Amino acid sequence: MSKVPNIVTPPPGPKSKALVEKRNDLIPPGVYLVQPVTIAESKGSVMTDVDGNSYIDFTSGIGVTSLGHTVDEIVDTITTQAGKLIHSCIHVVNYEPYLDLAKKLTEVTPGGFKKRAMMLNSGSEAVENAVKIVRQSTGRPNVISFENSFHGRSYMALSLTGKWDPYRVGFGPFVPGVYFTPFPYSYRCPWGTDDAEECGEAALHHIEKNVLKTQVDPSTVGAVITEPIQGEGGFIDPPDNFFPGLKELCEEHGIQLIIDEIQTGYARTGKMWGIEHYSVEPDLMTIAKAIAAGLPLSAVVARDDLMKDIYPGSLGGTYGGNPIACATALKVLEIIERENIVDKAAELGKKLRKRLDEFYDRYEVVGEVRGKGPMLAMELVKDRKTKEPHKDATSAVMKGCLESGLLTLKAGLYGNVIRLHPPLTIDDELLDKGLAIMEETLKKV
Ligand SMILES: Cc1ncc(COP(=O)(O)O)c(C=O)c1O
Repeated sequence: MSKVPNIVTPPPGPKSKALVEKRNDLIPPGVYLVQPVTIAESKGSVMTDVDGNSYIDFTSGIGVTSLGHTVDEIVDTITTQAGKLIHSCIHVVNYEPYLDLAKKLTEVTPGGFKKRAMMLNSGSEAVENAVKIVRQSTGRPNVISFENSFHGRSYMALSLTGKWDPYRVGFGPFVPGVYFTPFPYSYRCPWGTDDAEECGEAALHHIEKNVLKTQVDPSTVGAVITEPIQGEGGFIDPPDNFFPGLKELCEEHGIQLIIDEIQTGYARTGKMWGIEHYSVEPDLMTIAKAIAAGLPLSAVVARDDLMKDIYPGSLGGTYGGNPIACATALKVLEIIERENIVDKAAELGKKLRKRLDEFYDRYEVVGEVRGKGPMLAMELVKDRKTKEPHKDATSAVMKGCLESGLLTLKAGLYGNVIRLHPPLTIDDELLDKGLAIMEETLKKV
């Protein structure tokens, strides 16, 4: 491998800068940009920009290219399928990659019961459709969602997203029938406790004694939707008692549990699905991001009885379940199984956790290290006692990393969380180099 990272001109270099200026002139700033560089190509865990700088990638396009960039086998699958069938709308004629993927997804998702699956293009669309399926099949219109959640940018998905700035600014009114409740973010527990399990208990208590008593009639609530680990919210993994309690509460009131695995799925947390850490079976699941190695594809997988009587013609779309994307998604699942990617991700998680725990021990600015498997993040604070968020330090770390050849992402309610999203296939050498760069920048803030 040629030298990586390789910074030949301080990023952003002149070509990158000119193209970012072009972007700023052509594209609305609402389509935000985290890293001010223009990428020309990528391979494995390395991205190379138009100035010839190459970076270690700790972003995977926000958890999408989990198997690495432009994997040869994936490229072959795409070109082979493109030579056979690029498109036919699934409403016009039937085709096999869609069916094969539907079958496979019903097999690899939690729950031994009969399921069905449908394909769409984006995570947001999967969320939209999960809610449509619940509303039509149960006749219950209302949905409970969590504060600090992210479910997407289309109107239903945005209406379920529990963070105002930047996602919802100026976009109201939103879809009615959504009720928010706090997530057990135990580092900053809304109920003031430092005990994670107590925070989980309080979150459940709040739904039962507040939301379902004072805000909405439980018999009208179709679903609770939640990420197993909040992604954009800052990689917040709830305490172990939370999901079993939530499932019990849902069952008691006949409410469906929609688990949004869009960011947590496909081994990102060291298990195939994030919810597997909590031994709970969802009624519906939304899946996207890593599903097709970067091609636009998403899915809803749900219990058969919720899907089987959906009114004919009421679901779908022109592009959902594109044959190339479905063939690629099948290849992704094949690689995950064949290469034991779930076990490898768990191992990667251990290595990352060890280093991030060292950062916690060494640098006061690291207030908390959290997450599951390799889905790990550091929350940066000005003071460990007051937990005052340190947004400037977060920006400085990201800038420092970029300048040294490491691409990173942030997250969190206060924009002070560095989240790690490396390809799950990253090799030890690049991983160590990337973490060493991160440590050097942490030292300086
Ligand atoms: C948990 C979760 N749900 C939904 C979405 C929306 O997916 P998309 O951006 O593909 O619409 C995202 C995207 O980050 C996500 O992380």
